[in-house]
Amino acid sequence: MKVPFHDLKKQYKALKTEIDQAIALVCAETAFSGGHYVELFEADFAKHYSFPAVAGVNSGTSALHLALLTLDIKAGDEVIIPANTFIATAWAVAYVNATPIFVDCREDTWQIDIEDVKRKITPKTKAFIGVHLYGQPFDLGPLQQLAQEHQLPLVEDCAQAHGARYKGKYVGGLGELGCFSFYPGKNLGAYGEGGAVASNRLDHIERIKKLRNHGSSERYHHDEIGYNMRMDGIQAAILSVKLKYIDDWNKRRQAIARQYQSGIKNPKVQLQSQPDWAESVYHLFVVTTEDRTAFIEHSKKAGVATALHYPIPCHLQKAFAHLGYQQGSLPKAEYLAEHCVSLPMYPELTDEEASWVIETINKY
Ligand SMILES: Cc1ncc(COP(=O)(O)O)c(C=O)c1O
Repeated sequence: MKVPFHDLKKQYKALKTEIDQAIALVCAETAFSGGHYVELFEADFAKHYSFPAVAGVNSGTSALHLALLTLDIKAGDEVIIPANTFIATAWAVAYVNATPIFVDCREDTWQIDIEDVKRKITPKTKAFIGVHLYGQPFDLGPLQQLAQEHQLPLVEDCAQAHGARYKGKYVGGLGELGCFSFYPGKNLGAYGEGGAVASNRLDHIERIKKLRNHGSSERYHHDEIGYNMRMDGIQAAILSVKLKYIDDWNKRRQAIARQYQSGIKNPKVQLQSQPDWAESVYHLFVVTTEDRTAFIEHSKKAGVATALHYPIPCHLQKAFAHLGYQQGSLPKAEYLAEHCVSLPMYPELTDEEASWVIETINKY
């Protein structure tokens, strides 16, 4: 049996009529950049997750960048972020000319280590970004408390976690700003690029709407230096269609995860520990194993495709070499980077395919 790592075609085939109609409507109205369909999607997305306000933008990276801009983070400031995340979390800090301060992860949940955050706070710290990596909420409570104590904003990177819940509440509405990505492979994915920022603070969302549109809320009046980071109408219309299915898709991911969690029984393979306050939406299903090369080879021979998220932690990327981190600076994030393997995880994966993945791993 062949189990691909991902299969976006299956989903398109299932939704083809609805998606094609949505695209045709946008074209008929030539509502291509920003506009009506973006406003509709913002309202749909906000309602679905009970977010007071949402701004649609052109990517998750822009969502994070605009979040930091609206918080007035600037050169000389420090922003504390986990080292084990996709690089875009760190780009946002670099784009506003601030310094990313990387912290380690916990050994069990692989999420941000609050004790390490505490050690790294300085008078220059101006914000925290927590990442709900792989779709599993990080422990928001202690980080929220720390943010309150220091009167600093907490930004949630929810790029991988649409619909995940922390203590029963949707992520994205718990920090000062929640940033989402709609990159095609995400749990809620566009057919191109897309992102959104959610917030309880309407002033933040208003400012982001201005910043994404060349710093303008009135045509050809530019109040501050702005950007072209609007969401496309076609992406918004597609996302409004797909939003109707996200809860079912997440439930299917959770069912596959349960199958993996109960079926994988191999002492050479470790799973991410999941506290009972964390309801993951399993954007990725990641395991660790000592000899990753042998594991990947074994899986490949059995027809099971795997991937790596992420093989190099942010603090050891060449782009951040000037910050002076070295191998050994953040040992748990480094261990994860060297030993992680992602298994196939998407709603269209069949029970038989999931069983084959399990059988393959148990034979390793
Ligand atoms: C954790 C995380 N943050 C940020 C991003 C950036 O999102 P985008 O690719 O939409 O710019 C991604 C996705 O790629 C991500 O996984």
